[in-house]
Amino acid sequence: MTTSVLSDLKIRCSKAIAAAFGEAYDNYDPAVAPSKDAKFGDYQCNAALGLTKKLKQKPQDVAAQIIANLQVDDIFEPPTIAGAGFINLKLKLSYLETQLAKMQKSDRLAIAKVDKPERVIVDFSSPNIAKEMHVGHLRSTIIGDSIARILEFQGHEVLRLNHVGDWGTQFGMLITYLREVYPDALTKADAIAIGDLVELYRAAKKRFDEDAEFKEISRAAVVELQAGGAEAKLAWQLLCEQSRREFQKIYDTLNIQLEERGESFYNAFLADVVTDLRETGLLQEDQGALCVFLEGFSNKDGQPLPLIIQKTDGGYNYATTDLAALRYRINEDKATRIIYVTDIGQAGHFAQVFQVAKRANWIPETVQTTHVPFGLVMGEDGKKFKTRSGDTIALKSLLEEAVVRARTDIEIRNPDASDEFKQDVAEAVGLGAVKYADLSQNRTSNYIFSFDKMLALQGNTAPYMLYAYVRVQGIGRKGEIDFTSLDAAIHLTQDPEIVLAKHLLQFAEAIDAVAEELFPNRLCQYLFELSQKFNQFFEQCPVLQAEESERISRLSLCDITAKTLKLGLNLLGIRVLERM
Ligand code: ARG
Repeated sequence: MTTSVLSDLKIRCSKAIAAAFGEAYDNYDPAVAPSKDAKFGDYQCNAALGLTKKLKQKPQDVAAQIIANLQVDDIFEPPTIAGAGFINLKLKLSYLETQLAKMQKSDRLAIAKVDKPERVIVDFSSPNIAKEMHVGHLRSTIIGDSIARILEFQGHEVLRLNHVGDWGTQFGMLITYLREVYPDALTKADAIAIGDLVELYRAAKKRFDEDAEFKEISRAAVVELQAGGAEAKLAWQLLCEQSRREFQKIYDTLNIQLEERGESFYNAFLADVVTDLRETGLLQEDQGALCVFLEGFSNKDGQPLPLIIQKTDGGYNYATTDLAALRYRINEDKATRIIYVTDIGQAGHFAQVFQVAKRANWIPETVQTTHVPFGLVMGEDGKKFKTRSGDTIALKSLLEEAVVRARTDIEIRNPDASDEFKQDVAEAVGLGAVKYADLSQNRTSNYIFSFDKMLALQGNTAPYMLYAYVRVQGIGRKGEIDFTSLDAAIHLTQDPEIVLAKHLLQFAEAIDAVAEELFPNRLCQYLFELSQKFNQFFEQCPVLQAEESERISRLSLCDITAKTLKLGLNLLGIRVLERM
């Protein structure tokens, strides 16, 4: 097993710099990167330029001293110096060949697990009870799942947490309405009898807004629930149960694993947040509310903005719960990396929560907290994604439509296939397309939801990627090849082979990059380029018709490509098909 060439080379260049220029340069950034242009080799070390000033030596001389201390002859041809001291490194073909052979024999493509696995929390999906799971939650679910998969693949211990909104004042209104309209559900403790929660929410809200007495009773119900009143608690549980059932359908459809730990879980820890913040001296009283004044956030009059920890009426806020959750995740879960996947609109919220926790010294230096924001989902008209009547789009019907459309395609392409086959393909393609369309965009921008685009067979789409995989499997079938027994003897002679081989070797780098920066579109881009490079290779280099030794080598390249596509798509939560 190996780490990526890039990370290996960074370490080696770092060592060479320290060896050449002494301890003062122990942690000097080696400025190693893949070369943008093949004429500068495959990788570059660009540290010399920055070092010339410090060392008062010519960049070429600095580069020469780095090279003199650099041990890379197992991987690279002898390094060369170009221009102002750029060190160019070209992979040895023999190295490529042995690495690819290792990749082919390994079920994880010879990618090593990390040396120091971390305990990571990915907080994602997190819809709100009794409300609809909307497209924003769908994005969080898809992006969060992919990030979790990638970190798990690297060997980290990942806790996938669903921070559902299962607490708050809205429950007073819902409980009161439930008592009015479905007393039966309560006496029989029957969640299903509650029926459609989105409807219920709407109706309850209407009552709440129109009737002052209802409002009063609702307020009392919140207090009752918070005090642990048995009937209120039962009503709350039924509501959660019914909601959970709806959410679970989406998770099952999308094959998402999640552990529910909603806001209510942290109730018991909210009071401690107040007590401990008071002790740090950060807590202040402002018009009856307890708050922390934030640094770098101000209101329109330029006054520091308060983060309210406890309201005048004694209630707590979304932020208070997140502070409690953060402490729990650090102290009890022992997480060292905590990732939150929500829409970009919550960026301020997380910045504030992290700031207060940092100032309170609740986040040790060994712990990294990261908000992973994403943009809105837009309709093809460029406006916020809605149905024609202006309602939010129900996720269930959205996913169903993707499958139905994919089914229509397969009916045309392959009308004689069995019903079972068509449905299986339609599900993999339809759901894969929804996921891939989301993941292949830079997540921070808004993205336009278009069935036509995501289901297209050409372009950076799931069907294109799935088809590339099927194509390789087709070669195997045509040549009656048992890929598992193929003796991975790889000889690279033609340019398209070498280009493909180098790209295959960079899979580990793509995974590292996503794990570090948390942009899954980087992996999509990698896979897209892989399919393109494979297609070029396949057009220019005969495989089944080639002479025996070339044939085996090229078949191996096909096999490694297929394995990489399969694993890569799997890390995006997308399953491949053997035929389509
Ligand atoms: N329930 C929230 C929403 O729907 C998302 C929760 C995200 N996670 C968190 N720890 N705040 O917007």
